[in-house]
Order: sequence, then structure tokens, then C-alpha cells
Amino acid sequence: MKKDRIKTELLVHDLKNPIAVIEASIDSLIRNAQRESSLTDRQIRALSRVLRNSKIAMSLVNDILEVGRSNEGIFNKDKFKCYEYITFPFIEIFDLIDPETAEKINYSDNLADFVKTLESHNIRLNMDETAWSKEIVLDIRKVRQVFRNLLSNAVKYRKKEIVLDISLDDMNLIISIMDDGKGIEKEYQRKIFEKYFQLGDERNFCVRGHGLGLAGALVLVEDMGGEMTLESDKGKGARFTVRLPLDEQ
Ligand SMILES: Nc1ncnc2c1ncn2[C@@H]1O[C@H](COP(=O)(O)OP(=O)(O)OP(=O)(O)O)[C@@H](O)[C@H]1O
Ligand SMILES: [Mg+2]
Repeated sequence: MKKDRIKTELLVHDLKNPIAVIEASIDSLIRNAQRESSLTDRQIRALSRVLRNSKIAMSLVNDILEVGRSNEGIFNKDKFKCYEYITFPFIEIFDLIDPETAEKINYSDNLADFVKTLESHNIRLNMDETAWSKEIVLDIRKVRQVFRNLLSNAVKYRKKEIVLDISLDDMNLIISIMDDGKGIEKEYQRKIFEKYFQLGDERNFCVRGHGLGLAGALVLVEDMGGEMTLESDKGKGARFTVRLPLDEQ
């Protein structure tokens, strides 16, 4: 491993400490407040949001370290129900734009409810019940990271809606994410997977990102033995499809 990469990873790694302290303090504050009824419901809800977001910050830190670990060939495979891979990235994304929805998703493990919640945000999910509750073995941290990045791009770049197709065959988990945004010209379809590459954008997003999401996602997908494809035309939206080979159960 190159020396400068270790330095950056160490810095990122050291972020874990302060975030863990924030998390533990808020957690104990909430518990005390609930026991002593010393705060209003609204205050507790605000603190819960702080807590959830410090958890997200922690998972982002872990994600950065995950790409490093993936480069070194380290995997953590475990058996989880398919929806556990899928729902968490939505919680992370909605927590920042609509915490009530995040909470709703957090407390539901039911496909019909989940579909309905997403529909109210113009996200259409096509997935069947069998796939939803089937147990599969994959590196959950890596899968969630890939999905979260594709999803956050789709949310960021869509005009109106997103269509998700999630399915399982005997050998693979297949996730396809389609948005109706301005799409990506053919000449840039390779480049967007490179680190730090971003297309010029006339739109005003306050958080423009770093051009790292797709590069990281691609590294993880390939290290898991899968593949990611992109179909897009300028002005006609983009569709990213990820195929991940399942481990034997
Ligand atoms: N669904 C999409 N529709 C249109 N353009 C996209 C889409 N997804 C990615 N892009 C283009 O590819 C570039 C790279 O995407 P990537 O996710 O790597 O970076 P980012 O979203 O800009 O920042 P980050 O993910 O680091 O927060 C984006 O800046 C954008 O120009
Ligand atoms: Mg991105």
C-alpha cells in the first residue's frame, strides 16, 4: 500500500473517535430524557435525528475504509434477507431530506408498505415478495454502499421519477436504477466512473458532491465479482444496472 494512502486512511479512521463520542452522548441524553420525561417529544425527535445522522457519518467513514479494504481483498460475507440490503440506503438518504419517511422505512419490513412509501416520493419499485424476503449471502456493507451511491445520484439528477427493478435469479442479485434526468452523453459514459470526474452542471445543487461515488461503487462491484452497466442518452435519463453474484448459502 502506498504511503500517502495509508496517511489518508488513518485520518479517516481517526474520525471514528469523535463521531463515536457524539453518538454515545446523544444516545445517553435521549435515554435520560425518556426516563425522566425532561424533554418534549419534539426535542427528542430532533435529538434522534442527530443520533441517526451521526450513525450515517460513522457509516460513511466505514465506507471509505471499506473501499481500502476491498482493494486489499478483504470481504465480510453474511446471510441477510434481501430487503435488509435494500432498505438501509433509503433510510440514509431520506434522513437528510425527509426524516419522517426515513423513520417510516426504518420501522417497516413489509414490501407493500415500502412500495407505498416510495411511491409517495415518485420512486417506483418493482420487486416480488419472494425476492424481498429471501436470504442471500453478500458483503452487506459493500452492497449498501454501492446502492446508496447510485440511488443518491438518481435522486440528485432525476427530473421527476425513479424506477427501480430488483430481482434475484439462482446466481445473482440484480439491481437496476433508472432516472428521467438529463442523462449522460456517450463520450462521458466511461469517464464518470473515474475518481473526481464530474460533468459541468448548470443546475444549482447546494451539495455537489466530490465525484467519488461512482468510482468507489465500481471498485466494490468489481471486487465482489459483479458488473455495473450504464445505459443512457443525453436528455433521456440514465439507467445503472448492477449484477452481483451470490455466494453459496
Ligand atoms: N443518474 C445520473 N444522471 C446524470 N448524471 C449522472 C448520474 N449519475 C452520475 N452522473 C454524473 O457522473 C458524475 C460522477 O458521479 P459520482 O457519483 O461519482 O459523483 P458525484 O455524485 O458528483 O459526487 P459524490 O458521489 O462524490 O457525492 C456526476 O458528477 C454527474 O455528472
Ligand atoms: Mg454521487
